[in-house]
Amino acid sequence: MKFLASLSICILLFSCTKDKVAGTIVDPNCTDSVSFSTDIWPIIEQNCTSCHNVGNTTGYTLTNHTTISSNASAIIGSMKGSGFQLMPQGGPALADSLVQRFQCWVSQGKKNN
Ligand code: HEC
Repeated sequence: MKFLASLSICILLFSCTKDKVAGTIVDPNCTDSVSFSTDIWPIIEQNCTSCHNVGNTTGYTLTNHTTISSNASAIIGSMKGSGFQLMPQGGPALADSLVQRFQCWVSQGKKNN
């Protein structure tokens, strides 16, 4: 009996573990949770805020979660140069992996995390 009980616990544990692993593979491009403070803000701060700071004349102020999330589709368009002027202005375009992280952040609900 003792043996059977531990055997079934093993099977249960194993199937739970397996489920968890399988459950994380929802979208192969956005598997990990993207953080605004550690992923998104550094991308914008290092590549955009020098021009798109408070009081600039570009029409886009990209200095915090509110302004970045409300302009998210324009930001993606400009990072890809599709439908908007390519940004950063004068190029070169950002690495695809950074654009991808921004898109994952948007698809995960533009969290302020
Ligand atoms: C060197 C300065 C500079 C940098 C760096 C820069 N921008 Fe811009 N951006 C501008 C200027 C100037 C305009 C306005 C251009 C115009 O109206 O002709 C602009 C316009 C835009 C627009 C509107 C484009 C359109 O076609 O309507 C978006 C969106 C944008 N920037 C996003 C970004 C993002 C995102 C980054 C960082 C990846 C960035 N910018 C980096 C100077 C810059």
